[in-house]
Amino acid sequence: MKVKIDPERCQGHGRCYDLAPALFAEDDEGYGQVVGDGAVPDGEERTARLAVANCPERAIEIL
Ligand code: F3S
Repeated sequence: MKVKIDPERCQGHGRCYDLAPALFAEDDEGYGQVVGDGAVPDGEERTARLAVANCPERAIEIL
């Protein structure tokens, strides 16, 4: 499983990196970015889905 953020949609709400800091981080302007290549480690799948469900812009995709 991998996560991806669509930079066209992300408005910097920050829910992703608050809820799933192992998977997402904040860039210099507060926009979300995936950690590493976006690969979701074992045990973080539920957190990945939580982040997807909580992004108000629907900017996060699970691949
Ligand atoms: Fe952006 Fe959504 Fe995260 S708007 S900062 S991807 S919660």
